[in-house]
Amino acid sequence: MLEDTVKKILQARVYEAAHETPISPAPFLSRRLNNQILIKREDLQPVYSFKVRGAYNKMAMLSEEQKAKGVIAASAGNHAQGLALSAKKLGVKAVIVMPRITPDIKVQAVRARGAKVVLRGDAFSEALAHALELIEEHGYTYIPPFDDIDVVAGQGTVGMEILRQQTGRLDAIFVPVGGGGLIAGVAAYVKYLRPEVKVIGVEAEDSACLKAALDAGERVVLDQVGVFAEGVAVAQIGEVPFSIARDLIDDVITVNTDEMCAAVKDIFEDTRAVSETSGALSLAGLKKYIQQTGAEGETLLCINSGANTNFDRLQHIAERTELGEQREAILAVTIPERPGSFKKFCRTIGKRMVTEFNYRYADPEDAHIFVGVQVKPGGDDRAELIRKLREAGYPVEDLTDNELAKLHIRHLGGGRPKEHFEEQVYRFEFPERPGALMNFLTHLPADWNISLFHYRNHGAAYGRVLVGMQVPNGDRGHVEEYFDRIGYRYWKETDNAAYRLFMA
Ligand SMILES: Cc1ncc(COP(=O)(O)O)c(C=O)c1O
Repeated sequence: MLEDTVKKILQARVYEAAHETPISPAPFLSRRLNNQILIKREDLQPVYSFKVRGAYNKMAMLSEEQKAKGVIAASAGNHAQGLALSAKKLGVKAVIVMPRITPDIKVQAVRARGAKVVLRGDAFSEALAHALELIEEHGYTYIPPFDDIDVVAGQGTVGMEILRQQTGRLDAIFVPVGGGGLIAGVAAYVKYLRPEVKVIGVEAEDSACLKAALDAGERVVLDQVGVFAEGVAVAQIGEVPFSIARDLIDDVITVNTDEMCAAVKDIFEDTRAVSETSGALSLAGLKKYIQQTGAEGETLLCINSGANTNFDRLQHIAERTELGEQREAILAVTIPERPGSFKKFCRTIGKRMVTEFNYRYADPEDAHIFVGVQVKPGGDDRAELIRKLREAGYPVEDLTDNELAKLHIRHLGGGRPKEHFEEQVYRFEFPERPGALMNFLTHLPADWNISLFHYRNHGAAYGRVLVGMQVPNGDRGHVEEYFDRIGYRYWKETDNAAYRLFMA
């Protein structure tokens, strides 16, 4: 079976549309992390991601009759662009169905490559359903993004190039995982020829469908999927990729949003390439591997799988980078509300750089301050700082890993109600489309009072919203029944320490 896959990879037709991409050394990172770190540059493909390899190979294998009828896919991402380019090269008609909320920049990119774009539905599932209808009607051939042996074989050419280009020492290859097409192809090729080279999958912790499948011993469907790394936001690992990869890969590492953002910066600093978050995912996993194993002097390679990011997203990525590097501690510290006490607090902090500071008068006794402080990477320095503050008599709450604190509270300069009232606070992910807020509001009973509302655009498909509500007594036990009907993801935050200290 492994040999069959390797043969398919060797025979894959990709170079009529894709480039053989170089491996870049990462000298800054290598020095910093005491290992030789290499980056396979799939961001340099003509569509800025590796996805063109699988799409082209699959399409090149179609019969003349299939090609004459045309191909179709439902995708707003890198697969759409890979497919559009492949179709153009092969002279095949391509139809791409995208949800109506797809940013115009992506629609234009696909149209510019000559594909026909059909906008349909609000969610991906509706776009997919429409694609299936069009297949019935016109006899198009569906080109899957990952769950297909010819797609896997096309992606496997990344592994083939890596072994050809890096003939010397190679200890491990880190591969980003969405539906598993890339890792299945890479693992098959690498394990067949150099089984001693570790192949390690890296997933975003809120879309870790491969890890879930390996833990369960079978493919499972995740209840919810985080969309921060759009390229890998997949709820279930593909059947074909899983059957190939499950026994070949050495490990799966999961990373969080901040770790991905930090890796985007690392790649930029060593290569000047701006990768998308999914593109930098594998580097985030590589760094975690070094942290967990204490590896030194090894040669470790990660795949920068793509660079299709919205420009306005970069601000958010930059903001979260310090945290991902664990170079910033976010703390809530209570100091006495009297002259001179802030100065005394700063003296306790010492020479460390204060990166953020938020405070608003609330009562005559205590002042709760929201403070960001630069610390050395790893958790030890932060722990030492907190110990020092507590020793000096300050109550400290560590908010460094607190999503509410990092997404919203840091941008709110107070807003505490004068008098005490019962308030329920929820954080939501709203789809970024017109009418999303009205839809939310019209689902709430008219006698609920909105007492807090904070929104921040991150240039992503989803907007983050913090809402406080005064809910009449009779409804208090049932608020989430209303939210479930709306269908947006939400988190109850009424008991969150950051909210209690700064807003309640
Ligand atoms: C940039 C990027 N990285 C990684 C992946 C994951 O690939 P796969 O679905 O084959 O696991 C994708 C998938 O679209 C992607 O666009």
